[in-house]
Amino acid sequence: MKKVVLAFGTRPEAIKMAPVIFALRAQPEINSVVLSTGQHQQQLEDALRVFGIVPDADLKTMTDRQTLPALMGRIVPAAADKLRELQADYVLVHGDTLTTFAVSLAAFFEGIPVGHVEAGLRSFNMREPFPEEANRKLTDVLTDLDLPPTPGAKKNLLHEGKAAERIIVTGQTEVDAVLYASTRGTPPPLPENKRIVGVTMHRRENLPFMRELAHALARVAKAHPECYFVYPVHLNPAVREAVYPELEPLENVALLEPLEFGTMAGLMRRSALLITDSGGVQESGATLGIPVVVLRNVTERPEGLAVGALKLAGTDPEQVFTLIDGLLCDEAALAAMRNRPNPYGDGKAAQRCAQGVAWRLGLAERPVDWQD
Ligand code: UD1
Ligand code: UDP
Repeated sequence: MKKVVLAFGTRPEAIKMAPVIFALRAQPEINSVVLSTGQHQQQLEDALRVFGIVPDADLKTMTDRQTLPALMGRIVPAAADKLRELQADYVLVHGDTLTTFAVSLAAFFEGIPVGHVEAGLRSFNMREPFPEEANRKLTDVLTDLDLPPTPGAKKNLLHEGKAAERIIVTGQTEVDAVLYASTRGTPPPLPENKRIVGVTMHRRENLPFMRELAHALARVAKAHPECYFVYPVHLNPAVREAVYPELEPLENVALLEPLEFGTMAGLMRRSALLITDSGGVQESGATLGIPVVVLRNVTERPEGLAVGALKLAGTDPEQVFTLIDGLLCDEAALAAMRNRPNPYGDGKAAQRCAQGVAWRLGLAERPVDWQD
């Protein structure tokens, strides 16, 4: 038996790795071990509950208001020790968080090959998203196998000089995850007679002006009493300090604690519109056919823009207000964004990831690329 360690630490990684865990468990001759760095605690548990997954090991690295250098300093040695103790044959990481790069570096130091799920996303802007653009590029310097979600992401890796044979286009595992969770989860209690707008906003690079963005959302909520805005707020205290004073007083805004992923999938499915700065919500919205407004200046997920499922609002509060207010006033414009062809995946991404790892371990054929 070969031992594959799936390592992650935050909510989005957990959600997107859950289907890969299922797929690896179905591979004969592979013993899969789930390692959490504990970069997130509560939010990680909330992400995994609908899948019934509990990590086999937890490095418990989270601290309140953690800084990037200190977190990096905790994860690298702890992950290296754990990977050595587990005698891992292969390590699988996901995405672009600090955990992603720190565990890849630890595995590299230990001489263990690393596969990267959701490799190749690029915004081509090192400040946005920060520090994720650096994390994903640094990780891809270290990898044995890259598993980009789309042909566009593969192209980015080829441009950086990576060998084509070690790049397998898999589709996005968020698609697999949200299809699984949305049939199991139900939304939180919602008013029957209102249009539901789901909101998430937490990104580090948006923190300096998050209060102004929250103010813009409050203006939208006041202008649209026919809508009910549901915003599960990230546990980062800096996010909560920016958001609560602006939005809590409004009657048609519900600020909730973070939702477990099944409930979140239910909320997204019930929404007329999603407003977000998250990566995963862009892909989930496109999968469920729900229009998404993205609170960023650039996205590393351009496929959704190309098919018309996403709109980039930028981060200027006036522009954000104008775009969302305009959409909520224009049913035809919203309808044109609904149920676009999904450019992110076909729901079988996790199987391709698992087969790719099995191939690297000499246990299976190389899988065929998605959309080859
Ligand atoms: C991190 C990722 C980001 C991802 C986001 C997902 C990095 C550099 N950033 O964001 O890519 O989009 O997670 O949510 O890795 N906290 C809790 N409980 C939790 C989780 C967080 O209390 O379960 C609080 C803690 O005070 C923690 C703070 O939130 O210090 C920030 O968490 P952190 O993982 O550092 O957040 P980001 O870097 O903003
Ligand atoms: N999500 C969730 N509960 C919430 C908010 C978000 O389960 O209260 C899900 C969301 O549907 C998406 C994922 O978390 O699938 C995205 O994670 P996050 O926004 O934390 O990170 P990002 O995608 O920005 O990296």
